[in-house]
Amino acid sequence: MTAPRPQFCELHLHIEGTLEPATIFDLARRQRLQLPYADEAELAAKYRFTDLQSFLDLYYANMVVLRTEDDFSLLAQAYLDRAAAAGIAHVEMFVDPQAHSERGIAERVVLRGLQRAIDEAAERHGISASIIACVVRDQPVDSAERMLDAVLDSGVPVIGLGLDSAEVGYPPSLFRSVFERAGEAGLHRVAHAGEEGPAEYIWEALDLLGAERIDHGIRALDDPRLVQRLVADRIPLTVCPLSSERLRVVDDLAELPLRQMLDAGLRVTLNSDDPAYFGGYLDDNVEAARRAFSLTADELALLARTSIEASFLSDDRKKELLRAGA
Ligand code: HPA
Ligand code: ZN
Repeated sequence: MTAPRPQFCELHLHIEGTLEPATIFDLARRQRLQLPYADEAELAAKYRFTDLQSFLDLYYANMVVLRTEDDFSLLAQAYLDRAAAAGIAHVEMFVDPQAHSERGIAERVVLRGLQRAIDEAAERHGISASIIACVVRDQPVDSAERMLDAVLDSGVPVIGLGLDSAEVGYPPSLFRSVFERAGEAGLHRVAHAGEEGPAEYIWEALDLLGAERIDHGIRALDDPRLVQRLVADRIPLTVCPLSSERLRVVDDLAELPLRQMLDAGLRVTLNSDDPAYFGGYLDDNVEAARRAFSLTADELALLARTSIEASFLSDDRKKELLRAGA
């Protein structure tokens, strides 16, 4: 008898990062939009990155094909169908509302489209999902403040505020007031920190933004005091193996400090970040990590359990999922 496959939650997934070349061309054709690439192959050939910024440039440019509520719904539907088929129990998806509002697309259009797909996927597959709106940190603070207002006014049950985009030079401290208001409004708070930026940014995310989870966070290992703090406060880190390799945060997957993180007692989860761009979805990331670090079945089960415990699901639903995967 084979052991039951552990059930994972995906806690670090940018929904715009699930935009596959085929979908980009499909949406462009429907909108009679001329793309700056001749075909899917020419676009796919651009998916080679030297750092975070080289990826972000293409990631934001490709969003031009996302215009209507239906477009956002279709995007999330395709991802959730795939996630459900891969056995993922629950997803907390990031979206960058400012990347769309700056193109004239209202936050509520984006959020309603995503929520529609989430509701339909729950009906169809039993998978649950919720939305975390991210501050695009290389945009001005007042743009972030306006985004938060629009999210809170949208009528869509967004569960959290995150922080993403170009990290170095944009410390979390810039967005203290936005995160304070988000906390007062009852939103969860998470932040990308320590992906390319220093351990200091992780301290700021914890102390100034009230972050409950750190996205990536691999630079935490540069600072033993920070590791102690993350362990003591049981702060989860959402690690994304294929992303860190493709963005050259590490030269090779084997250099990702996953074992050191686990050995230090950090609460690590595995995630896909931007699967259409980085060569794999969550199941591919789990498999890549299993091979690179010779993870045992027990270690994979621990990573799956941590992903459930680190989610923002209710305690009852967490217990249910933990029992199902036991
Ligand atoms: N880092 C920061 N911002 C992002 C990423 C990432 O890996 N993906 C999409 N936005
Ligand atoms: Zn990310």
